[in-house]
Parts: sequence; C-alpha cells; structure tokens
Amino acid sequence: MEKGETTVSAPGKFILFGEHAVVYGEPALALAINLRIIVNARISKNGYFSVNGQSLDRNRNRFIKKAIELYWDGPPLELISTSEIPNASGLGSSAAVTTATVAALLNLRGITSEKEIAESAYEVEYEVQKYGSPTDTSTSSHGGGILLTREPAENELWNIRHGDQDWHINHIDVPELTIVIGHSGFGSSSAKQIAKVHRFVESNSFAREVIRDIGSLTRSGIGYLRDGNKQRIGELMNRNHNMLAILGINTVELQHLVDAVLPFSYGAKLTGAGGGGCIIALTDKPEEASMAIKRVGGKPIIVKSSTQGVIFH
Ligand code: PMV
Repeated sequence: MEKGETTVSAPGKFILFGEHAVVYGEPALALAINLRIIVNARISKNGYFSVNGQSLDRNRNRFIKKAIELYWDGPPLELISTSEIPNASGLGSSAAVTTATVAALLNLRGITSEKEIAESAYEVEYEVQKYGSPTDTSTSSHGGGILLTREPAENELWNIRHGDQDWHINHIDVPELTIVIGHSGFGSSSAKQIAKVHRFVESNSFAREVIRDIGSLTRSGIGYLRDGNKQRIGELMNRNHNMLAILGINTVELQHLVDAVLPFSYGAKLTGAGGGGCIIALTDKPEEASMAIKRVGGKPIIVKSSTQGVIFH
C-alpha cells in the first residue's frame, strides 16, 4: 500500500444481554460478529473529500464526516467503504463504520492504540446521535466480547468518561458460538425506543424492577458464557427477551421470529433497541433455524462470535 493509504476493517455486534438496562447503570454484554465494514482511506488526487466516489455528504456520511471533523486535519481524503452489516438493524453498522473510519484516520497519523480508537469512535458516535452507551464502538474496536459496567470490574480494558457518565469496558472470554440472526425487515430507531423505555421507567416502579432484574441476569450470564454453557445461556436469552417485551420494545414480527426459531435453538431474544431490527438465536442447527426464520418472512444471517476487533489490513 502507498504511503498515505490505509485499509482498516471493524466488526458489527449484537447485544447478548442487557440492552436498555445498560442505560440505567446495569451491565451489558455484547459480542462482535464476523460481519465487517472495510474502509480504505487515501490522500485524494481530486483535492476534495469523497466517499465511494461521491463527495462527502453531511446527510449520507454523517459518521464519516464527523470523524474527519474531529480527527483529521490533513489533506482531503478519498474513502471507500464496503459493508456486510445491514443498516438500522441493531447490528452495530454505524458503530462499525465509525470505528473503521476513526481507526483509518488515526492510523494515517501513526496511531494504532485500541483504546484511543474506541474512545474516539465513541466521541464521534455520540456527537452524531447525542445518546447511547459506548457498547457498540468498544465491541467493534476490541472484538470478542465486552462487558460494560459502571464500576471497575475484572479484566478492564479502558474506561470512557462522558459528561457525568463513567463507563468501564471489560474484556470477556467468548467461545465460538453459532448465532442465527433473524432480521424482521423493519428498521428501528434506537432513540425512539430508548425514549419509550425511559417514559415507562420514569413513571413505573415495576419497570425499574425489570431493569434491575435484567442487570442480575446479565451478571449471571458472564460465567455461563465463559464456560460455553449453551443450555444456560439460552435460558437466560429467553428470560431476557420476556423482560424486554415487558418494557414494551418487542413487536409482533420479532415475536414470530423468536417463536419460529425456538424449536431449533437453546434460546432466542430480540437484540438491540427493539421495535424492529433483529432477533438472535443460539443454535447448533443454523440451517433449520434459518429455514424457520424464512418461513415467517424474516431474513436469516448465520454468524459466529469470537471475532477480531479492528484489523489493519
Ligand atoms: O440499536 P443498538 O443495537 O445500538 O442498541 C441500543 C442499545 C441500548 O441499550 C438500547 C442503548 C445503548 O446505547 O446501549
């Protein structure tokens, strides 16, 4: 590769346990998946910034544009990005494009620190979205599995401060698991779902109890994940799904997908913000689970956990 050129990739993710509860101080456990976004960046010959052959656009390239604003003061760049991660589905595509872009920009400046990439990627994501935890960007940077907590925990990788928030990002050992993702075909707005849960939690002590229960469940999931105890992980996934349904973010389509895969799975749940997007199923029968998803109108994707974070190619 020429000087002034770099190619970087970063993975998507799914949340195994703890989405939404993490917004209220509970832990969350997220795993990187072997679907990636690749970004190639090089000094532009045309004298302006471009992405995939078109000039950098405020609406189309919100994350890339913000990354450049915050972390690049060199000459214009030409970026090419290719993605295997479906958009707006809770699989971390925004975080992966942000992480890969930030890693490319930092690498062109001679910086390859995982911590710096994760911190900077979170800054970009936050600046664009104005909400959310660093779960996605940290998982995309580090790969494997991460546990996000509000207090220092074992195997801390780094902590990220933002305003009065303090997040601890901890490494989790993850065995290779086969997960079938079922895409409902509906996009989901994380901001809307977060606001919906917020209204419920503010006004209802039962909702606050559910949030705490999700926290305990996530904590018990750590050991099962480390031991690769699929039976137990599956049981917790089912329970976590039901709790998320109580919080009001399940949909008819997501429930159809969960019901369809359960006969072929250890467990299944919606993943991410909900209200659309995807379910995940832990299974040893990915083909059967995929067929079941198709039968109820969903789009299956078979993925593996235990994948690398940022890779400099
Ligand atoms: O849309 P996703 O997959 O990034 O999930 C959002 C997860 C929440 O817990 C609802 C919010 C967050 O930033 O952690």
